[in-house]
Amino acid sequence: MVIMATTSSLTYLPVLERIAEEVDRTPGRGRPADYIPALAACDPRRFGMAVAELDGTVYGVGDWRQPFSTQSITKVFTLALDLAREGDELWEHVSREPSGNPFNSLVQLEYENGIPRNPFINAGALVVTDRLQTRTGDAAGELLTFLRAESGNPELDFDREVAASEATHGDRNAALGHFMASYGNIDNPVPVLLDQYFRQCSVAASCADLALATTFLARHGIRADGTRLLTRSQAKQVNAVMLTCGTYDAAGDFAYRVGLPGKSGVGGGIIAVVPGRCTLCVWSPGLDERGNSVAGVAALDGFTTLTGLSVF
Ligand code: DON
Repeated sequence: MVIMATTSSLTYLPVLERIAEEVDRTPGRGRPADYIPALAACDPRRFGMAVAELDGTVYGVGDWRQPFSTQSITKVFTLALDLAREGDELWEHVSREPSGNPFNSLVQLEYENGIPRNPFINAGALVVTDRLQTRTGDAAGELLTFLRAESGNPELDFDREVAASEATHGDRNAALGHFMASYGNIDNPVPVLLDQYFRQCSVAASCADLALATTFLARHGIRADGTRLLTRSQAKQVNAVMLTCGTYDAAGDFAYRVGLPGKSGVGGGIIAVVPGRCTLCVWSPGLDERGNSVAGVAALDGFTTLTGLSVF
């Protein structure tokens, strides 16, 4: 059930309004990702933020209904969808440690025998998508179906221009895929995997959509329709990996500032989970040098500081 709140239960709206004013006054928003030309055109002054509560109420400020490129945020959902199917066997193929390296780095893979550090760097996400592809025959389609169901928005879709742009500039991901295949850690033909991965990254969704789609993690694994996707323990595990690995090689600083499980994408979005309470999604396309939204991290920092909500 999705409720676009107008009257009741706008618990955190005054906080969001205060954050939006603060962001508006702050100069310097970073730069949009330019390694994917389709993302480079975004205006770094765009800003939106949404809160979704556990009953499906969602509200926000600024550009909170504006679709943007979800990019690596989708890695959370493919992880959950695969974990729900194969359970702990997944962890034999991808680890759960922060990498301390950029998200597209190849360097650890050779001396760690083709096992990526975690599911949120590109190498790890490729492994997860590969395994979901083996289990479903259409990993990206499975993701889209899930996001549509959880957000209540049947119009969510892939952005074909972004997917094509990723494919044209996809040498690094192709290298990661082939390198892991050489260790026997990829099951599908690498071109098939890359096509699935690029479509996955291209999904366009708004802060409202993503905050709602993330609520299963705040509900300890329970989906919007009341069915269970993850066990309580698996939901804890996904939240823990988000906290420790969700913001690339800035995960320590994100945990220090925000104190919540979070996952960013180079489209400028960040999702965050307050277990048992609510979820957040913020979007502003200007990134810092590690690929995290400058205003997005500041806004989440402001939210947990003003509300006192965090996992600590
Ligand atoms: O693989 C890429 O380059 C992007 N499509 C995803 C980038 C992103 O958001 C950061 N990744 N971990």
